[in-house]
Amino acid sequence: MSNHYWNSKIEYLSKTRWLYYNDDYLEFLVKSVWKITSPVRIIDFGCGYGYLGTKLLPLFPEGSTYTGVDIGNKLIEHAADVFRESTFHTEFIVGNIQDMSFEKEYNIVVCHAFLLHVENPKEILQKMIGCLVDGGRIICFEPHWISSMANYFLDGVNASEFVQLGFLQKLFESDKERSGKDGNIGIKVPVYLSQLGVKEIDCRVSDRVNFLDPNADVLKMDALYSSLKEDGFGADPGDEDSFISNLIQRGATYEEATNEYKAELFLSEIFNSDVFLTYAANMKITSGVIER
Ligand SMILES: C[S@@+](CC[C@H](N)C(=O)[O-])C[C@H]1O[C@@H](n2cnc3c(N)ncnc32)[C@H](O)[C@@H]1O
Repeated sequence: MSNHYWNSKIEYLSKTRWLYYNDDYLEFLVKSVWKITSPVRIIDFGCGYGYLGTKLLPLFPEGSTYTGVDIGNKLIEHAADVFRESTFHTEFIVGNIQDMSFEKEYNIVVCHAFLLHVENPKEILQKMIGCLVDGGRIICFEPHWISSMANYFLDGVNASEFVQLGFLQKLFESDKERSGKDGNIGIKVPVYLSQLGVKEIDCRVSDRVNFLDPNADVLKMDALYSSLKEDGFGADPGDEDSFISNLIQRGATYEEATNEYKAELFLSEIFNSDVFLTYAANMKITSGVIER
């Protein structure tokens, strides 16, 4: 799909994934938790530009293969470019996962920040399970917005001045009721997988806490500041009336929407690369095994 929203988000995806995990933690998961010791066939649902492939393939035994599926043709073209020079065996498919069917031919099915964008996450989990050979493993890296919004510390300011915690937590819940899309899907995946018959379910929290430190290396801090901005933190809320009416449409009261505008405007004014800030994304990483 050439006009697909995520086609124009390659820069955002490339700049923000590293905010979630340290490389040594991913290595720990692959080698010590999931204990992947022989070559595997992996498929990545909603692969984007292939972020998970770039991180996981080098950790998997030689001979492993990676198939990425995404509806965005530009993302898939970019993914093919990313892997063009690599020695790994990769394959990229443009398609709408909602309409696709898959054979039981993979040892591992993964997704990263994908389930929160579909209206029917449990059905998609069922489809993911359906790709796996007996004994195969499903691995989902998904967010838990309720906890991640409570995980910013900006030196000198109370968090409640720039994040309406109770309000946002309610808003995310009502968004899910209205649209089916769930920014808290990460914390629910273990439950859904158990209900779908998956065994040996294990859930972890992403390990990375980002520290914007004006006393540290300027280049590294500029990169972190730019990634946090790209992730939406401290963004200019834009036109007040449209911002407020959008929130009211999502179920906020006028007062809540006005307060949210004020909080986001305030944050956009005080957030710059000279502040001390810590932030943990709190992604949830759930894995389980299929026994047929
Ligand atoms: C937040 S992005 C994550 C991309 C990638 N997994 C990453 O973390 O960098 C969500 C991705 O899901 C894809 N997507 C959403 N709905 C889809 C669908 N029905 N079929 C295939 N891909 C879909 C989007 O095109 C987008 O690339």
